[in-house]
Amino acid sequence: MIGQFISLEGGEGVGKSTQTARLATALEARGVHVLVTREPGGSEGAEAIRGLLMQGEVTRWSPHTEALLFAAARADHVEKRIRPALEAGQWVLCDRYIDSTRAYQGGQGIDDAAILALHGFGSKGLLPDRTLLLTLPQGAGEERALVRDQGVADRFGARGRDFHAQVAAAFDRIAAAEGDRVRAVDASGAPEAVTDRLMEALADLLP
Ligand code: TYD
Repeated sequence: MIGQFISLEGGEGVGKSTQTARLATALEARGVHVLVTREPGGSEGAEAIRGLLMQGEVTRWSPHTEALLFAAARADHVEKRIRPALEAGQWVLCDRYIDSTRAYQGGQGIDDAAILALHGFGSKGLLPDRTLLLTLPQGAGEERALVRDQGVADRFGARGRDFHAQVAAAFDRIAAAEGDRVRAVDASGAPEAVTDRLMEALADLLP
């Protein structure tokens, strides 16, 4: 039995990390074995690339180099951790995946087809069985992220309001175009309520 591959996506401060952990607990309670992981990173090699991506000046990498680094990190993560876990029958919950590259790097003049071509080459095009897109009204996530990061944002969090609005719009476009895979889930309100909504969005995949 092959496990289900679930990614969680969304802009800064939508509560993805909290919800990834909560969702894992809820799934385990249903008897599902879960591997929780995240991108960029998730394997030894990919975590090393994460260090290159997250630190330094906003302009450290050109958009093209950055897209290649994300694709390289993902290729290692898929090969070393995600595929082996799925083949062992585990579910994989991944905090960010390919749609983050499409939303964040896609707005930097790299077209969607090029990003998907790199993904095809690096990770044999592996897509999640379900992608949960956490959504909040514009600006609400950034407020939360500001409090969380206390003014020391990473290379991506440090970008302006327009950048984050573009990212949110790109996620919405992906969700609209790929409704079979991607479900938008309202991330507002109590954490328990958000987890319940996420579980509902997985109901058809549950054993
Ligand atoms: P992280 O510290 O993991 O924060 P969070 O997921 O809570 O926002 O930061 C990851 C950052 O990397 C985030 O700002 C989005 C960015 N990113 C991309 O630009 N492209 C990608 O493909 C991925 C996976 C992440």
